Amino acid sequence: MLTVRAPATSANLGSGFDVFGVALGAPADVVRVERAPETTITVTGVGSQYIPEDPAKNTVGAVAEALDAPAHIRIDKGVRPSSGLGSSAASAAGAALALNELYDRGLSRADLVPIAAEGEAVVSGEAHADNVAPSLLGGFTVVADGGVTQVDASIPVVACLPETTVSTRDARGVVPDSASLESVVDTVGNAATLTVGMTRNDPVLVGRGMDDEIVTPERAKLIRGYEDVREAALEAGATGVTVSGAGPGVLAVCRRASQRAVAAAMIDAFDSAGVDSRAYQTTVG
Ligand code: HSE
Repeated sequence: MLTVRAPATSANLGSGFDVFGVALGAPADVVRVERAPETTITVTGVGSQYIPEDPAKNTVGAVAEALDAPAHIRIDKGVRPSSGLGSSAASAAGAALALNELYDRGLSRADLVPIAAEGEAVVSGEAHADNVAPSLLGGFTVVADGGVTQVDASIPVVACLPETTVSTRDARGVVPDSASLESVVDTVGNAATLTVGMTRNDPVLVGRGMDDEIVTPERAKLIRGYEDVREAALEAGATGVTVSGAGPGVLAVCRRASQRAVAAAMIDAFDSAGVDSRAYQTTVG
């Protein structure tokens, strides 16, 4: 039996739609594997009732097939499905790591990114690597045509998760088909600022660089209470706030000293909008 912990992630970070991702210190899935003649999957933990155990329909079944690594796979979900915190990606990344080791496939973590991304496509319909890459590699990742680049980063964040859900399909449905040159230029500038901020572990630059006028405003409309939560987090000291992945999770970047106040403000603001939530005070890493 081999056990792997696979962290939650936050994709996009506002200005890096389908490009940026970060690994979060918490929550995480735990994936356990042992060799077997054919793949079977058991899922426990948060939201497990919504996750199919049929290997043809589960993200980790495709990973086992791609690695030609049949196994009994037990997934203990710590990352709630449809949260915007890379739930299916965490399971796919964890299974890829564990099965690679179980069968001595000798692949690097970077080699496993496209394999885990294919697994994720089973549930989301499209193979995005912006969640599996940080779950496998840690830190801050950039997924682009040229491949994946990664830098270690340590930035305090609050990932606030309302009890509501948003499907990735719906969240992709509201993404505009086009954008003005002016807003593209602004977004490129913000993305570059954020990247520099990650290399300097600077929460002010990272927070400022999360601003995005193209995708985030449309997705924010799908999250009850989002604008109030954003305002409350900024007032409590957050340096930037955005939708985490496809939502409904909301990600705030802050200095360590204001992390607790930011988390409390976000929970209160969701509460005022009639939505229960929980906040993970954690770190990109
Ligand atoms: N980049 C993707 C999105 C992440 O925001 O739709 C979710 O799979």
